[in-house]
Amino acid sequence: MRLREEAQNMRLREEAQNMRLREEAQNKRLREEATTRRDLHRSSELRMRSPGSLLEVVGISKRFGGLQAVRDLSFGMARGEVLGLIGPNGAGKTTAFNLLSGFLAPDSGQIHFDGRSIVGLKPHAICRLGLCRTFQIVRPFPHLSVLDNVRVGALARRARMADARGKARAVIDQVGLGAKALEPASGLTLAERKRLELARALATEPTLLLLDEVMAGLNPTEIEGIVALIRRINAAGVSILLIEHNMRAVMTLSHRIAVLNFGEKIVEGEPAAVANHPRVVEAYLGEEYVHAPAH
Ligand SMILES: Nc1ncnc2c1ncn2[C@@H]1O[C@H](COP(=O)(O)OP(=O)(O)OP(=O)(O)O)[C@@H](O)[C@H]1O
Ligand SMILES: [Mg+2]
Repeated sequence: MRLREEAQNMRLREEAQNMRLREEAQNKRLREEATTRRDLHRSSELRMRSPGSLLEVVGISKRFGGLQAVRDLSFGMARGEVLGLIGPNGAGKTTAFNLLSGFLAPDSGQIHFDGRSIVGLKPHAICRLGLCRTFQIVRPFPHLSVLDNVRVGALARRARMADARGKARAVIDQVGLGAKALEPASGLTLAERKRLELARALATEPTLLLLDEVMAGLNPTEIEGIVALIRRINAAGVSILLIEHNMRAVMTLSHRIAVLNFGEKIVEGEPAAVANHPRVVEAYLGEEYVHAPAH
């Protein structure tokens, strides 16, 4: 009797064991299938992107009433690149930024960032994808401290207040405003406000940072400081699209430069070639720059 019971128990244990093995084998198969599906999905995603390309702008245009502010503008950016965007006042540079960052919708054309179309997305959604910009006219919250101003940027990515605060602190140190962290933004000099504007954008942890005249109004020493800071940001892996009127700074920082005139791109290339291009001289730079010594 006991023997029969024991034999039965053993059979049950064996069956249970077999069932577990069968289940495990099935789970393993399912996991493998899922991985293959994910890999296929990932590789098809990768195929859609051209390798190394971070931003692809194809034929974007924007009209304000009778004024064609941006006309059929196309350009691309590789990962890690610094692209300078220059041109005379009113050439359409800031409008181009507004189109890329979602503050304005293009009348036509395509913008792909990191392999996906971003036309029609709101600025905060574009920023969450990793494309973030500064404003030509800096506009911090004047009564908030430097730290809280930057924390607003950090909250774009981090839901927890403490995380956002930590990130904000790190970015404030990075831009050299550590000593001013607890002061109200209204007490900052223009150079410090420009750094704050940079910090607010950096706190969103961008892959591509759009900088709109972050050196305007600064003295040569302050400009040198910002140039060094932008270099460090780029060296840390952030790609940068830079609108800048200070020629020495834009020539020093940019890997390539695109020139806008009346909303159209007239030239694009390496800094030295662009600076000497007759159309650029005619549109923008003036004879004296072309004959100045190279930096
Ligand atoms: N919201 C708007 N409504 C109407 N016209 C606009 C608007 N924004 C810009 N413009 C016009 O579009 C043209 C391009 O302006 P934009 O600000 O893009 O030039 P910019 O190249 O950034 O110039 P700057 O170097 O002076 O900053 C200008 O003629 C400007 O007056
Ligand atoms: Mg502008």
